[in-house]
Amino acid sequence: MALLQVEHLKKIYTTRFGAVQVQALQDVNFSVEEGEYVAVMGESGSGKTTLLNILAALDKPTSGRVLLEGSDMAAIPDGRLSAYRRENLGFVFQDFNLLDTFTLRDNIFLPLVLARHDPDEMEKRLAPIAKQLGIETLLNKFPYEVSGGQKQRAAVARALITRPRLVLADEPTGALDSKATDGLLDVFEAINRAGQTIVMVTHSTRAASHAGRVLFIKDGQVFHQLYRGNATNEQMYQKISDTLTVLTTGGRDDA
Ligand SMILES: Nc1ncnc2c1ncn2[C@@H]1O[C@H](COP(=O)(O)OP(=O)(O)OP(=O)(O)O)[C@@H](O)[C@H]1O
Ligand SMILES: [Mg+2]
Repeated sequence: MALLQVEHLKKIYTTRFGAVQVQALQDVNFSVEEGEYVAVMGESGSGKTTLLNILAALDKPTSGRVLLEGSDMAAIPDGRLSAYRRENLGFVFQDFNLLDTFTLRDNIFLPLVLARHDPDEMEKRLAPIAKQLGIETLLNKFPYEVSGGQKQRAAVARALITRPRLVLADEPTGALDSKATDGLLDVFEAINRAGQTIVMVTHSTRAASHAGRVLFIKDGQVFHQLYRGNATNEQMYQKISDTLTVLTTGGRDDA
């Protein structure tokens, strides 16, 4: 069974007075196996964030369904949703979403505090993650005392500390310079190699070239999928660039 199954997802946004409708997703279908690293690409406005918000149970589709390990997300009662997210999903956002009045350690602990874990258990979980992400010496600093790349590593640690079934990332490298981007992409690759399933939305060909599979969204549908196979990151980069050219020029899809 696939870890994540997305079936006939449709999302229509209606304005407050019901007059204007935007069809953000028309008919999105795909599945993600446990252990995969999937990038989602598409032009601005193609529905990537809409899709991610639905996968994150932050928004509901107009029709269609999302199954995590075979269970329909729509069946989760509203009162259980935040616990469900905490227990199953990890999030990494473009703008880090760290609390400025908390140290990095307390930011990382936050989801466990909300789930009422005991402090010893939290420290035990943090140690290997902080080591892997190279932030052991930064844990007592506040977000404004560290760099963007270091903030994003802390955000990744916060996403991983709950041992989520699935990590969802929306433009995780969007606010990083090229060096910090490479650092973060190395981190994602390493955690994926260790078995973590990742779905990442990105504009960046460089970021997507690290994934095992790339989904291209256009006109509210999955327009094309690229599988890495044995390609290197450089070869994957070239394949993605070629596909994006076809996507934006509307040329034949034989690149
Ligand atoms: N809350 C909303 N109400 C109405 N329309 C919305 C809302 N959110 C998004 N849209 C519209 O839905 C479409 C898809 O938006 P979405 O944010 O998912 O795109 P995106 O692919 O994430 O774009 P970007 O790459 O710029 O982040 C756009 O036409 C957008 O204007
Ligand atoms: Mg977006």
